[in-house]
Amino acid sequence: MSLVTTTDMFKKAYNGGYAVGAFNVNNMEIVQGITEAAAELKSPVILQVSKGARAYANHKYLVAMVKAAVELYPDIPIALHLDHGDTFELCKDCIDGGFTSVMIDASSKSFDDNVALTKQVVEYAHEHGVVVEAELGTLAGIEDEVVVESGKESYTHPEEVEEFVNRTGCDSLAIAIGTSHGAYKFTPEQCTRNADGVLVPPPLRFDVLKECIERLPGFPIVLHGSSSVPQEFVKMVNDYGGKMPDAIGIPEDQLREAAKLAVCKINIDSDIRLAMTGTIRKYFAEHPDHFDPRQYLKPARQAVKDMVAHKIKDVLGSEGKA
Ligand code: G3H
Ligand code: 13P
Ligand code: ZN
Repeated sequence: MSLVTTTDMFKKAYNGGYAVGAFNVNNMEIVQGITEAAAELKSPVILQVSKGARAYANHKYLVAMVKAAVELYPDIPIALHLDHGDTFELCKDCIDGGFTSVMIDASSKSFDDNVALTKQVVEYAHEHGVVVEAELGTLAGIEDEVVVESGKESYTHPEEVEEFVNRTGCDSLAIAIGTSHGAYKFTPEQCTRNADGVLVPPPLRFDVLKECIERLPGFPIVLHGSSSVPQEFVKMVNDYGGKMPDAIGIPEDQLREAAKLAVCKINIDSDIRLAMTGTIRKYFAEHPDHFDPRQYLKPARQAVKDMVAHKIKDVLGSEGKA
């Protein structure tokens, strides 16, 4: 199988009540960890590349590594997606450069400007057999250079989604229902505490999601900012010299519920970062004399694989759906 678009993946996910994981890739170990897990569990997978990832690793390296994974695992569908493209030129570069899917994120612009830019990308992408994800509503957190302060985010207005999809022709739509980017998704003040004193974040706005679904029957919805920030890895980071106080994410049971509905793509990056960083910090503390990068990158890659396997089995529900 060669690289695929997300069209067929999303159709099956929508009808099957599961979601496909979209994991951010920045280096070889991340590509390997994700695709090894997806191949073993026979799951479709989306590998996504941000503008920052391209600046870090170079477009050509990233595409070559993803193509290597496609060759190694021909039995699972793999899509290569641009995450948070912010200009037509960036989207065009990725379309011309082998991506099968791009996101144009013009969600910080006015509705009409978002429509106009998204439409321009859709026209070019569709001429080249590439699909387009767009976004309505803004998430809190950091996306490359765009920082949206907590409290300044805005949920998607369901009454806008139909017109937006009809006018742009986009293939999937990211909506804002309370998820956010990064490892600090909520301030302690936004949370309550359970009986054990553990922070409990405010629930996702399933009412907004359901209204969007009603207005867009059969249409794939995307959730960004969907890391759950597992507390065992926050603890590992903190126990081995890190400092990530009050890091908190989206409860996995809520993501599982969303995946059963029309949410066909769930974006996860921070959990992979956390798994790698916690594992490497622990390794360094326990092996102060080691200096061969393969020694600490091997367990880090395994941690990526374990994290992705857990997401596929317990959160996305995409095991065996390749
Ligand atoms: O949504 C943002 C992703 O986590 C990518 O992050 O821009 O730091 O590569 P990045
Ligand atoms: P997280 O920061 O929650 O992993 O979100 C990643 C994301 O949305 C990438 O586009
Ligand atoms: Zn995102």
